[in-house]
Amino acid sequence: MSDYLNAAVEIARESGALLAKLFTQPMEITYKRRSDLVTAADRRSEAMIVERLQRHFPEHGIVAEEGGGHSAPSEYCWYVDPLDGTTNFAHGFPVFCVTLGLACRGEVIAGVVYDPTRDDLYTAERGGGAYLNGRRLQVSRTEKLSECLVATGFPPFATNHDLNIKFYFRFTELSHGIRRCGSAALDLCSVAAGRFDGFWELKLNPWDKAAGSLLVTEAGGHMSDIQGQPFDLLGDDVFASNGLIHDQMLEVFAEIMAQGAK
Ligand code: IPD
Ligand code: CA
Ligand code: CA
Repeated sequence: MSDYLNAAVEIARESGALLAKLFTQPMEITYKRRSDLVTAADRRSEAMIVERLQRHFPEHGIVAEEGGGHSAPSEYCWYVDPLDGTTNFAHGFPVFCVTLGLACRGEVIAGVVYDPTRDDLYTAERGGGAYLNGRRLQVSRTEKLSECLVATGFPPFATNHDLNIKFYFRFTELSHGIRRCGSAALDLCSVAAGRFDGFWELKLNPWDKAAGSLLVTEAGGHMSDIQGQPFDLLGDDVFASNGLIHDQMLEVFAEIMAQGAK
């Protein structure tokens, strides 16, 4: 493992342990906006991660969800989600994680996702494969959409006018089913691990998808946007799959978009 990944693993484990401890205590919930929750755990985890990253890599930039990052004149930038799955966490639903991805000139080169409730550590480095607790990951081999389990997510302000409601409806008809687990980073890890055959979401931030996108490609999967354009860490939408069903799912996205369902 590179020094980058080693440091990210150590930091993710430490902040994950903090999240696990706070999960058992009374929650302090505030609202960024209506139905966009933030807890004391998000802020405490982020403060810890940013302090550790600055100590290890003072010359690197950091972009962190709760605003605690800092810019630096460096080609290296860490994307940090100190708690992915805040709504789950706040409701006592044990599906959440901490995730750190390192990009160099916009390309993700290392990533960690740590799920403290299961003690599951997902790691990847560009060209070095994807791993869960040291075991190499491989995407699924499902070839037919009709035999797939897929996943998606919704931003805090989803309405029934959102295009994704239409996708949700159609993929429910066409596949074994859809899961909406509430942590985009863990959803991407589940594509890498072969549990889900595909995952898409329309309005994700770079910290949600930096590490997970690398896990998917290093496990042999494919990343793009929902129109099939190359994956863009700073873009809005994301589509991950095992590669084999990518075109079948792109056709469905295209059909629904062609109906002008925006
Ligand atoms: C959210 C989760 C969720 C996704 C939302 C994200 P947060 O992140 O990843 O699964 O559907 O779009 O905002 O707010 O829990 O860090
Ligand atoms: Ca997130
Ligand atoms: Ca978060």
